[in-house]
Amino acid sequence: MSAPKLSPVPSSQPERLHIFDTTLRDGEQAPGFSMTAPEKLEMAHLLANLRVDTMEAGFAAASPGDTEAIRLIAREVRGPTICSLARATEKDIDAAAYALEPAQRSRLHVFIATSPIHREAKLRLSRREVIQTIERCLKHAAGRFDEIEFSAEDALRTEPEFLVEALSCAAQNGADVLNVPDTVGYSEPDEIYRVFADLVEKVERPDHVIFSAHCHNDLGLAVANSLAAVKAGARQVECAINGIGERAGNCSLEEVVMALQVRADIFPAVSHADATQIWAASQRLSRMTGTAVAPNKAIVGKNAFAHEAGIHQHGMIADRRTYEIMTPESVGVPGSSLVLGKHSGKHALSQRLAKLGYQPDPDRLNEIFAQFKAAADLHGEINDADLVAMMEGYSASG
Ligand code: KIV
Ligand code: ZN
Repeated sequence: MSAPKLSPVPSSQPERLHIFDTTLRDGEQAPGFSMTAPEKLEMAHLLANLRVDTMEAGFAAASPGDTEAIRLIAREVRGPTICSLARATEKDIDAAAYALEPAQRSRLHVFIATSPIHREAKLRLSRREVIQTIERCLKHAAGRFDEIEFSAEDALRTEPEFLVEALSCAAQNGADVLNVPDTVGYSEPDEIYRVFADLVEKVERPDHVIFSAHCHNDLGLAVANSLAAVKAGARQVECAINGIGERAGNCSLEEVVMALQVRADIFPAVSHADATQIWAASQRLSRMTGTAVAPNKAIVGKNAFAHEAGIHQHGMIADRRTYEIMTPESVGVPGSSLVLGKHSGKHALSQRLAKLGYQPDPDRLNEIFAQFKAAADLHGEINDADLVAMMEGYSASG
């Protein structure tokens, strides 16, 4: 409890962007992504390898199983701050405190909805009652966690002046992180930028308090919105491996981390995540939950570093920077692949044949190239065994 608050950085350094991973909470909440406690622990170790700043290990009050999974992670995993979600009730906060007891560093993530539709239809609370609830629950949490994060659920559909009031109230009652969720993925980047810029200007808070973005992907804008929030002053982004989360998911961790790294020239803050651990975490999550990653998914899809078109392959052979803005190794993918198919050219074919130990003369190469195109038209991708079969003059197994 005596540990320092989120540390400000010297002004000559780029500011730190905190990566808050919610794979094990918001991610796990999505249909089909439920994990057992040992599975959550295994993922938590992979997230620690990735050096996320905070991992939300679950929602302690949701079930006894989730309480135990959080406790297990809090006991076993070192490095990141371990966090539990809680509604703004004494009972939920107590459950989070119990689950986080063994943590080296703990964070409570307490939330209440602030938008009119949630206040009226779901909570049946007036604005005043919402403010009173924030005060009451933060007082109840005070001194029991190393850090406290407050979320104004459905913030982006909340009246701007009420959002300022709710967040100011949270900051003045002990919240260290003010999270501004786009709960239903309704916003677009310009709007998010304006909202965050306004909050940075107007919310009354102690100096160490930071703003956080939690963007859902209902319109496919979660990553773009999170990056816009960073430009406007957010210093924490909430995200999940493979972008999993409620409905269309959360901001994808791999995309936001790599956007910040590849385009460090335009962002005011840097993450300290170890991106080389991304692929291992993505693959493990996909196998554990039985949900394949789409081949064209940025960063971690099977095609993210695969090239089939002849022109692209020619460029890649000359200099991979022609068609790759990051190396596969930088995200832990073993290497790029030049996939041989009907769009591939002679250049790539002869390079692959050389790798397989063949150096046909130009006439033989022309012959093989014609055979290769005909086979690719029929079968799609041509693998090494097919090429050996062509060179040796026998039929390929497939
Ligand atoms: O999307 C959301 O609003 C949430 C909150 C609990 C932060 O997940
Ligand atoms: Zn969410």
